[in-house]
Amino acid sequence: MKSAELLKLKEEMDTDNSLPLRAQGINLVFGVGDTNSKVVFIGEAPGRFENELKTPFVGRAGKLLDKILVNIGIPRATVYITNIVKHRPPENRDPLPEEIAVYAPYLKRELEILNAPIIAPLGRFSMNYFLPYAKISKDHGRVFRLSNKLIFPLYHPAAALRSTGVLKDLETDFKKLPELIKNFESLLTKTAPEAKQTTEAKNQISLF
Ligand code: URA
Repeated sequence: MKSAELLKLKEEMDTDNSLPLRAQGINLVFGVGDTNSKVVFIGEAPGRFENELKTPFVGRAGKLLDKILVNIGIPRATVYITNIVKHRPPENRDPLPEEIAVYAPYLKRELEILNAPIIAPLGRFSMNYFLPYAKISKDHGRVFRLSNKLIFPLYHPAAALRSTGVLKDLETDFKKLPELIKNFESLLTKTAPEAKQTTEAKNQISLF
């Protein structure tokens, strides 16, 4: 059962003293949602409200994410949402590359358990974990194939709260998601080249 395996992983994380952002008053914020969802959203790191409620995306950015999901007919409860870093960084600073590197193996295992075909990184930190050479301003809303997954990078909702231009792009990109969920099988079997990890992330599947 996926939920039992995820619970085991969560418990393992909760007792892992090597995690660099563990601290007094800082809670583990593990992923939540439908473990059979075809799409997994991956944010950066929890903020204040996420830390308090031990749930990803429950602050202002989360409310925006909820609204955009409702607008495309995919309520939040029907998808899975997690973060690459699962403890809140001090002062809400960006996670450091060496911190991301310590948390990433847990994300990898979380994704293996979920086995969703579509990964939607929210923002550049989680996007660059999958596509190190991608640029969020250029590659948001594009579809990349990485072995047997589709990677669909999106702007972080917090960036959309700061810029109406980004908000428009985010809404436009999200509108592609229902189609992507419907067509993932043919997109994965398409002879689209894999995203190369050594050069620019240019191997986009041409559908969108
Ligand atoms: N921003 C994130 O990246 N993750 C959250 O859970 C909340 C805000």
